[in-house]
Amino acid sequence: MTNRVQCQVNGAEVSFEGRLDEPLLLALRNRLGLKASHFGCGLEQCGACVLSIDGQARYSCALPVSFLDGASIVTPEGLADDPVGRALLEAFDAEHAGQCGYCLSGIVMSAFALLKANGSPTREAVIEALDRHLCRCGAHGGILRAVERAAKGLAEASR
Ligand code: FES
Ligand code: FES
Repeated sequence: MTNRVQCQVNGAEVSFEGRLDEPLLLALRNRLGLKASHFGCGLEQCGACVLSIDGQARYSCALPVSFLDGASIVTPEGLADDPVGRALLEAFDAEHAGQCGYCLSGIVMSAFALLKANGSPTREAVIEALDRHLCRCGAHGGILRAVERAAKGLAEASR
């Protein structure tokens, strides 16, 4: 079994050694100091830890680092370096989406994966993409508007 994993995190080459059964979320927070993703349930139930992994929105709280050799990972810290990520950050800000913000670290990453794959999602597609995220503040309305605002802004910018 390999004792070293190499992957990309926000475009930078990263290697993990040692305890490769450690969940990705904890390795990012504790080894790389990337703390924008939140730990909620730790059971793949709430969505706070979702990251973009090879373009897919995936839970990171129970995903061992050993599964990530060769993967390309985007965390919330990397969003500002990408036009879609920037559009989402600006739209969430403009819509005042969220209240406490705890859920948003994962929601914005699912929205990022969605808009990367589908630049003009229907409301139903946005709801489906965000369906597995819990928001205890009930901020769903503003969150949906923010994702739609980002998609609209990107579409207008590409005309
Ligand atoms: S912390 Fe990963 S799904 Fe809740
Ligand atoms: S904004 Fe508080 S949990 Fe969603």
